[in-house]
Amino acid sequence: MADYQGPERVLSGIQPSGGMHLGNYLGAIRKFVDLQDRHDCFYCVVDMHAITVWQAPAKLKAQTRHIAASYLAAGVDPARAVVFHQSGVRAHAELAWIFNCVARLGWLDRMTQFKDKAGKDKERASVGLYTYPVLQAADILVYKATHVPVGEDQKQHLELSRDVAGKFNHDYEVPNFFPLPEPLIKGAGARVMSLRDGTAKMSKSDSSENACIFLNDDADAIARKIKKAKTDPEPLPSEPAGLEGRPEAANLVGIYAALAKKTDAEVLAEYGGQGFGVFKPALADLVVDKIAPIGDELRRLEADEAYLDAVLREGAAKAAAVADPIVADVKEIVGFLV
Ligand code: AMP
Ligand code: TRP
Repeated sequence: MADYQGPERVLSGIQPSGGMHLGNYLGAIRKFVDLQDRHDCFYCVVDMHAITVWQAPAKLKAQTRHIAASYLAAGVDPARAVVFHQSGVRAHAELAWIFNCVARLGWLDRMTQFKDKAGKDKERASVGLYTYPVLQAADILVYKATHVPVGEDQKQHLELSRDVAGKFNHDYEVPNFFPLPEPLIKGAGARVMSLRDGTAKMSKSDSSENACIFLNDDADAIARKIKKAKTDPEPLPSEPAGLEGRPEAANLVGIYAALAKKTDAEVLAEYGGQGFGVFKPALADLVVDKIAPIGDELRRLEADEAYLDAVLREGAAKAAAVADPIVADVKEIVGFLV
Protein backbone atom coordinates (compact mmCIF):
# COMPACT_ATOMS: atom_id res chain seq x y z
CA MET A 1 0.00 0.00 0.00
CA ALA A 2 3.10 2.13 0.15
CA ASP A 3 2.23 4.19 -2.91
CA TYR A 4 -1.53 4.34 -2.57
CA GLN A 5 -2.54 7.98 -2.26
CA GLY A 6 -6.22 7.70 -1.32
CA PRO A 7 -7.72 8.30 2.11
CA GLU A 8 -7.61 5.68 4.86
CA ARG A 9 -10.88 3.82 5.15
CA VAL A 10 -12.05 0.95 7.34
CA LEU A 11 -14.47 -1.80 6.26
CA SER A 12 -15.61 -5.01 7.89
CA GLY A 13 -18.54 -7.38 7.73
CA ILE A 14 -20.16 -10.23 9.63
CA GLN A 15 -22.43 -12.92 8.21
CA PRO A 16 -26.03 -13.13 9.41
CA SER A 17 -25.87 -16.88 9.82
CA GLY A 18 -26.18 -17.31 13.58
CA GLY A 19 -26.07 -15.60 16.96
CA MET A 20 -23.28 -13.13 17.77
CA HIS A 21 -20.88 -14.48 20.35
CA LEU A 22 -17.95 -13.44 22.50
CA GLY A 23 -15.47 -14.33 19.72
CA ASN A 24 -17.22 -12.03 17.26
CA TYR A 25 -17.29 -9.30 19.89
CA LEU A 26 -13.63 -9.50 20.90
CA GLY A 27 -12.27 -10.40 17.45
CA ALA A 28 -14.29 -7.91 15.46
CA ILE A 29 -17.11 -5.73 16.83
CA ARG A 30 -15.17 -4.21 19.71
CA LYS A 31 -12.54 -3.07 17.23
CA PHE A 32 -15.26 -1.55 15.04
CA VAL A 33 -16.24 0.67 17.97
CA ASP A 34 -12.67 1.70 18.74
CA LEU A 35 -12.00 2.66 15.12
CA GLN A 36 -15.08 4.76 14.44
CA ASP A 37 -13.81 7.86 16.23
CA ARG A 38 -10.65 8.19 14.22
CA HIS A 39 -11.57 6.73 10.82
CA ASP A 40 -14.03 6.70 8.00
CA CYS A 41 -15.76 3.35 8.75
CA PHE A 42 -18.09 1.03 6.83
CA TYR A 43 -19.64 -1.91 8.68
CA CYS A 44 -21.85 -4.26 6.76
CA VAL A 45 -23.99 -7.29 7.42
CA VAL A 46 -22.88 -9.66 4.68
CA ASP A 47 -26.17 -11.32 3.79
CA MET A 48 -24.91 -12.29 0.32
CA HIS A 49 -22.14 -14.28 1.95
CA ALA A 50 -24.62 -15.95 4.30
CA ILE A 51 -26.57 -17.55 1.43
CA THR A 52 -23.47 -19.45 0.25
CA VAL A 53 -24.95 -22.06 2.58
CA TRP A 54 -28.73 -22.52 2.87
CA GLN A 55 -30.57 -19.92 4.93
CA ALA A 56 -34.31 -20.02 5.52
CA PRO A 57 -35.56 -16.65 4.18
CA ALA A 58 -37.52 -15.47 7.24
CA LYS A 59 -34.62 -16.42 9.47
CA LEU A 60 -32.16 -14.56 7.26
CA LYS A 61 -34.11 -11.34 7.77
CA ALA A 62 -34.14 -11.84 11.53
CA GLN A 63 -30.43 -12.67 11.60
CA THR A 64 -29.58 -9.61 9.50
CA ARG A 65 -31.36 -7.42 12.04
CA HIS A 66 -29.63 -9.34 14.85
CA ILE A 67 -26.17 -8.52 13.48
CA ALA A 68 -27.08 -4.87 12.91
CA ALA A 69 -28.50 -4.68 16.44
CA SER A 70 -25.31 -6.28 17.81
CA TYR A 71 -23.17 -3.63 16.14
CA LEU A 72 -25.27 -0.85 17.63
CA ALA A 73 -25.62 -2.48 21.07
CA ALA A 74 -21.84 -2.84 21.30
CA GLY A 75 -21.46 0.88 20.59
CA VAL A 76 -21.19 1.33 16.82
CA ASP A 77 -22.83 4.68 16.13
CA PRO A 78 -24.66 4.93 12.80
CA ALA A 79 -24.12 8.68 12.84
CA ARG A 80 -20.35 8.15 12.76
CA ALA A 81 -19.96 4.85 10.90
CA VAL A 82 -21.90 3.64 7.85
CA VAL A 83 -23.93 0.58 8.93
CA PHE A 84 -25.66 -1.29 6.10
CA HIS A 85 -26.57 -4.63 4.56
CA GLN A 86 -24.41 -5.86 1.69
CA SER A 87 -27.32 -6.78 -0.61
CA GLY A 88 -28.57 -3.19 -0.28
CA VAL A 89 -25.60 -1.91 -2.30
CA ARG A 90 -25.53 -3.35 -5.83
CA ALA A 91 -21.94 -2.32 -6.40
CA HIS A 92 -20.70 -5.29 -4.31
CA ALA A 93 -22.15 -7.82 -6.75
CA GLU A 94 -21.01 -5.87 -9.81
CA LEU A 95 -17.43 -5.65 -8.65
CA ALA A 96 -17.47 -9.27 -7.45
CA TRP A 97 -18.16 -10.46 -11.00
CA ILE A 98 -15.24 -8.49 -12.38
CA PHE A 99 -13.04 -9.84 -9.58
CA ASN A 100 -14.17 -13.39 -10.41
CA CYS A 101 -12.38 -12.80 -13.68
CA VAL A 102 -9.25 -11.46 -11.94
CA ALA A 103 -8.85 -14.10 -9.20
CA ARG A 104 -7.31 -17.45 -10.22
CA LEU A 105 -8.70 -20.90 -9.51
CA GLY A 106 -5.40 -21.83 -7.88
CA TRP A 107 -5.81 -19.04 -5.32
CA LEU A 108 -9.28 -20.21 -4.32
CA ASP A 109 -8.17 -23.84 -4.20
CA ARG A 110 -5.91 -22.91 -1.30
CA MET A 111 -8.61 -21.37 0.88
CA THR A 112 -8.94 -23.37 4.09
CA GLN A 113 -12.35 -21.97 5.06
CA PHE A 114 -13.85 -23.45 1.88
CA LYS A 115 -12.34 -26.82 2.71
CA ASP A 116 -13.71 -26.64 6.27
CA LYS A 117 -17.17 -25.49 5.26
CA ALA A 118 -17.58 -27.72 2.20
CA GLY A 119 -16.52 -30.77 4.19
CA LYS A 120 -15.96 -34.10 2.49
CA ASP A 121 -18.61 -33.73 -0.17
CA LYS A 122 -17.33 -30.69 -2.00
CA GLU A 123 -19.20 -31.58 -5.19
CA ARG A 124 -22.36 -30.56 -3.39
CA ALA A 125 -21.11 -27.21 -2.07
CA SER A 126 -22.52 -24.10 -3.76
CA VAL A 127 -20.40 -22.29 -6.33
CA GLY A 128 -20.93 -19.21 -4.17
CA LEU A 129 -19.16 -20.88 -1.25
CA TYR A 130 -16.15 -21.38 -3.50
CA THR A 131 -15.98 -17.80 -4.78
CA TYR A 132 -16.91 -16.37 -1.37
CA PRO A 133 -13.46 -14.78 -0.82
CA VAL A 134 -13.79 -12.96 -4.15
CA LEU A 135 -17.02 -11.33 -2.99
CA GLN A 136 -15.20 -10.43 0.22
CA ALA A 137 -12.48 -8.71 -1.82
CA ALA A 138 -15.22 -6.76 -3.61
CA ASP A 139 -16.81 -5.75 -0.27
CA ILE A 140 -13.53 -4.20 0.78
CA LEU A 141 -12.28 -2.73 -2.48
CA VAL A 142 -15.59 -1.30 -3.67
CA TYR A 143 -14.89 1.40 -1.05
CA LYS A 144 -11.12 1.32 -1.62
CA ALA A 145 -10.90 0.38 2.07
CA THR A 146 -7.35 0.33 3.41
CA HIS A 147 -7.93 -1.39 6.79
CA VAL A 148 -10.05 -4.38 7.74
CA PRO A 149 -10.66 -5.28 11.42
CA VAL A 150 -11.23 -9.05 11.67
CA GLY A 151 -10.37 -12.08 13.78
CA GLU A 152 -7.41 -14.25 12.98
CA ASP A 153 -9.43 -16.74 10.93
CA GLN A 154 -9.81 -14.12 8.17
CA LYS A 155 -6.11 -13.65 7.52
CA GLN A 156 -6.07 -15.84 4.43
CA HIS A 157 -9.09 -14.10 2.91
CA LEU A 158 -7.40 -10.74 3.41
CA GLU A 159 -4.32 -11.99 1.60
CA LEU A 160 -6.55 -12.97 -1.31
CA SER A 161 -8.06 -9.47 -1.32
CA ARG A 162 -4.57 -8.03 -1.59
CA ASP A 163 -3.75 -10.41 -4.42
CA VAL A 164 -6.90 -9.44 -6.31
CA ALA A 165 -6.18 -5.71 -5.84
CA GLY A 166 -2.57 -6.16 -6.94
CA LYS A 167 -3.43 -8.21 -10.01
CA PHE A 168 -6.16 -5.79 -11.09
CA ASN A 169 -3.77 -2.83 -10.72
CA HIS A 170 -1.10 -4.72 -12.65
CA ASP A 171 -3.17 -6.26 -15.46
CA TYR A 172 -5.04 -3.06 -16.29
CA GLU A 173 -1.93 -0.95 -15.81
CA VAL A 174 -3.50 1.27 -13.17
CA PRO A 175 -0.85 1.20 -10.45
CA ASN A 176 -2.30 2.11 -7.06
CA PHE A 177 -5.90 2.27 -8.29
CA PHE A 178 -6.87 -0.12 -5.51
CA PRO A 179 -5.07 -0.06 -2.15
CA LEU A 180 -3.72 -3.36 -0.84
CA PRO A 181 -5.94 -3.66 2.25
CA GLU A 182 -4.34 -4.40 5.60
CA PRO A 183 -5.97 -6.69 8.14
CA LEU A 184 -6.24 -5.35 11.69
CA ILE A 185 -5.99 -8.58 13.65
CA LYS A 186 -3.54 -8.10 16.45
CA GLY A 187 -4.51 -7.76 20.07
CA ALA A 188 -6.22 -9.76 22.76
CA GLY A 189 -9.34 -11.54 21.56
CA ALA A 190 -8.23 -12.21 17.97
CA ARG A 191 -8.90 -15.91 18.52
CA VAL A 192 -11.34 -16.86 21.26
CA MET A 193 -11.61 -20.63 21.71
CA SER A 194 -14.55 -22.89 22.59
CA LEU A 195 -15.30 -23.24 26.30
CA ARG A 196 -15.55 -27.00 25.80
CA ASP A 197 -12.37 -27.47 23.76
CA GLY A 198 -9.46 -25.06 23.98
CA THR A 199 -8.14 -26.18 20.60
CA ALA A 200 -11.30 -25.32 18.58
CA LYS A 201 -12.37 -21.78 17.82
CA MET A 202 -15.51 -20.47 19.51
CA SER A 203 -18.14 -20.73 16.83
CA LYS A 204 -21.87 -20.25 16.50
CA SER A 205 -22.11 -23.66 14.88
CA ASP A 206 -20.62 -25.55 17.84
CA SER A 207 -22.83 -28.50 18.74
CA SER A 208 -22.52 -27.93 22.50
CA GLU A 209 -24.49 -24.89 23.59
CA ASN A 210 -22.14 -24.47 26.55
CA ALA A 211 -19.16 -23.94 24.23
CA CYS A 212 -20.14 -20.45 23.22
CA ILE A 213 -21.19 -17.29 25.09
CA PHE A 214 -23.72 -15.40 23.02
CA LEU A 215 -24.10 -11.63 23.29
CA ASN A 216 -27.74 -12.10 24.25
CA ASP A 217 -27.07 -14.65 27.00
CA ASP A 218 -28.36 -13.40 30.34
CA ALA A 219 -26.22 -13.23 33.47
CA ASP A 220 -27.30 -16.71 34.64
CA ALA A 221 -26.47 -18.34 31.32
CA ILE A 222 -23.06 -16.64 31.21
CA ALA A 223 -22.21 -17.73 34.77
CA ARG A 224 -23.39 -21.30 34.10
CA LYS A 225 -21.34 -21.64 30.91
CA ILE A 226 -18.19 -20.38 32.58
CA LYS A 227 -18.74 -22.66 35.55
CA LYS A 228 -19.02 -25.63 33.17
CA ALA A 229 -16.06 -24.55 31.02
CA LYS A 230 -13.49 -27.29 30.56
CA THR A 231 -10.29 -26.81 32.58
CA ASP A 232 -7.44 -28.88 33.93
CA PRO A 233 -6.74 -29.70 37.59
CA GLU A 234 -3.64 -27.48 37.99
CA PRO A 235 -3.73 -24.01 39.55
CA LEU A 236 -3.00 -21.06 37.24
CA PRO A 237 0.68 -20.41 36.56
CA SER A 238 2.16 -17.10 37.59
CA GLU A 239 3.59 -16.38 34.12
CA PRO A 240 2.27 -16.80 30.55
CA ALA A 241 4.93 -19.41 29.69
CA GLY A 242 3.17 -21.74 32.13
CA LEU A 243 0.05 -21.72 29.92
CA GLU A 244 1.89 -23.68 27.24
CA GLY A 245 0.15 -27.00 26.60
CA ARG A 246 -2.90 -25.87 28.63
CA PRO A 247 -5.25 -24.58 25.91
CA GLU A 248 -8.35 -24.29 28.10
CA ALA A 249 -6.53 -22.37 30.83
CA ALA A 250 -4.89 -20.15 28.20
CA ASN A 251 -8.28 -19.40 26.65
CA LEU A 252 -9.94 -18.39 29.92
CA VAL A 253 -6.99 -16.19 30.86
CA GLY A 254 -7.07 -14.69 27.36
CA ILE A 255 -10.78 -13.88 27.64
CA TYR A 256 -10.21 -12.25 31.03
CA ALA A 257 -7.29 -10.23 29.69
CA ALA A 258 -9.19 -9.10 26.58
CA LEU A 259 -12.22 -7.95 28.56
CA ALA A 260 -10.21 -6.31 31.36
CA LYS A 261 -7.90 -4.69 28.76
CA LYS A 262 -4.90 -6.24 30.51
CA THR A 263 -2.10 -8.52 29.33
CA ASP A 264 -2.03 -12.25 30.16
CA ALA A 265 0.99 -11.49 32.35
CA GLU A 266 -0.98 -8.93 34.37
CA VAL A 267 -3.87 -11.34 34.86
CA LEU A 268 -1.50 -14.11 35.96
CA ALA A 269 0.36 -11.75 38.31
CA GLU A 270 -3.00 -11.40 40.06
CA TYR A 271 -4.35 -14.98 39.82
CA GLY A 272 -1.19 -17.13 39.53
CA GLY A 273 -1.28 -19.96 42.06
CA GLN A 274 -5.09 -19.81 42.36
CA GLY A 275 -7.29 -22.67 41.23
CA PHE A 276 -10.22 -22.38 38.86
CA GLY A 277 -12.54 -22.37 41.87
CA VAL A 278 -11.37 -18.80 42.43
CA PHE A 279 -10.64 -17.74 38.86
CA LYS A 280 -13.89 -18.87 37.24
CA PRO A 281 -16.21 -16.80 39.47
CA ALA A 282 -13.99 -13.75 38.90
CA LEU A 283 -14.14 -14.35 35.16
CA ALA A 284 -17.91 -14.87 35.26
CA ASP A 285 -18.35 -11.54 37.06
CA LEU A 286 -16.20 -9.76 34.50
CA VAL A 287 -18.00 -11.29 31.50
CA VAL A 288 -21.40 -10.49 33.02
CA ASP A 289 -20.27 -6.94 33.73
CA LYS A 290 -19.07 -6.34 30.15
CA ILE A 291 -21.48 -8.47 28.10
CA ALA A 292 -24.84 -8.48 29.90
CA PRO A 293 -25.47 -4.74 29.29
CA ILE A 294 -24.78 -5.28 25.57
CA GLY A 295 -27.28 -8.16 25.65
CA ASP A 296 -29.94 -5.95 27.25
CA GLU A 297 -29.45 -3.26 24.61
CA LEU A 298 -29.42 -5.90 21.86
CA ARG A 299 -32.82 -7.24 22.95
CA ARG A 300 -34.24 -3.72 23.14
CA LEU A 301 -33.03 -2.89 19.63
CA GLU A 302 -34.19 -6.19 18.15
CA ALA A 303 -37.70 -5.38 19.27
CA ASP A 304 -37.62 -2.25 17.08
CA GLU A 305 -37.43 -3.67 13.57
CA ALA A 306 -38.56 -0.44 11.92
CA TYR A 307 -35.65 1.44 13.47
CA LEU A 308 -33.08 -1.20 12.47
CA ASP A 309 -34.41 -1.37 8.92
CA ALA A 310 -34.23 2.42 8.62
CA VAL A 311 -30.61 2.45 9.88
CA LEU A 312 -29.64 -0.19 7.30
CA ARG A 313 -31.52 1.49 4.46
CA GLU A 314 -29.96 4.88 5.15
CA GLY A 315 -26.55 3.25 5.57
CA ALA A 316 -26.95 1.47 2.23
CA ALA A 317 -27.71 4.77 0.49
CA LYS A 318 -24.61 6.38 2.02
CA ALA A 319 -22.48 3.37 1.11
CA ALA A 320 -23.76 3.33 -2.48
CA ALA A 321 -22.84 6.99 -2.86
CA VAL A 322 -19.21 6.04 -2.20
CA ALA A 323 -19.15 2.71 -4.06
CA ASP A 324 -20.98 3.63 -7.28
CA PRO A 325 -18.39 6.12 -8.60
CA ILE A 326 -15.62 3.59 -7.84
CA VAL A 327 -17.44 0.89 -9.83
CA ALA A 328 -17.99 3.40 -12.65
CA ASP A 329 -14.21 3.96 -12.77
CA VAL A 330 -13.60 0.19 -12.75
CA LYS A 331 -15.98 -0.31 -15.69
CA GLU A 332 -14.17 2.36 -17.64
CA ILE A 333 -10.80 0.76 -16.82
CA VAL A 334 -12.01 -2.72 -17.84
CA GLY A 335 -13.33 -1.40 -21.14
CA PHE A 336 -17.08 -1.68 -20.62
CA LEU A 337 -19.15 0.91 -22.48
CA VAL A 338 -20.38 3.49 -20.02
P1 AMP B 1 -18.20 -14.98 11.47
O1 AMP B 1 -19.03 -15.19 12.68
O2 AMP B 1 -17.41 -16.18 11.08
O3 AMP B 1 -18.96 -14.33 10.33
O4 AMP B 1 -17.09 -13.93 11.89
C1 AMP B 1 -17.33 -12.56 12.05
C2 AMP B 1 -16.10 -11.88 12.62
O5 AMP B 1 -15.80 -12.38 13.92
C3 AMP B 1 -14.82 -12.09 11.79
O6 AMP B 1 -14.03 -10.92 11.84
C4 AMP B 1 -14.14 -13.22 12.50
O7 AMP B 1 -12.75 -13.22 12.30
C5 AMP B 1 -14.49 -12.92 13.96
N1 AMP B 1 -14.52 -14.15 14.76
C6 AMP B 1 -15.35 -15.22 14.59
N2 AMP B 1 -15.11 -16.18 15.50
C7 AMP B 1 -14.09 -15.71 16.28
C8 AMP B 1 -13.38 -16.22 17.42
N3 AMP B 1 -13.69 -17.41 17.94
N4 AMP B 1 -12.40 -15.46 17.94
C9 AMP B 1 -12.10 -14.23 17.44
N5 AMP B 1 -12.73 -13.70 16.37
C10 AMP B 1 -13.71 -14.40 15.79
N1 TRP C 1 -15.62 -13.70 5.65
C1 TRP C 1 -15.92 -12.94 6.84
C2 TRP C 1 -16.23 -13.92 7.98
O1 TRP C 1 -16.55 -15.06 7.78
C3 TRP C 1 -17.09 -12.01 6.65
C4 TRP C 1 -16.82 -10.96 5.62
C5 TRP C 1 -17.41 -10.82 4.41
C6 TRP C 1 -15.92 -9.87 5.74
N2 TRP C 1 -16.96 -9.72 3.76
C7 TRP C 1 -16.03 -9.11 4.54
C8 TRP C 1 -15.03 -9.48 6.73
C9 TRP C 1 -15.27 -7.96 4.32
C10 TRP C 1 -14.25 -8.33 6.49
C11 TRP C 1 -14.38 -7.60 5.30
O2 TRP C 1 -16.16 -13.53 9.10
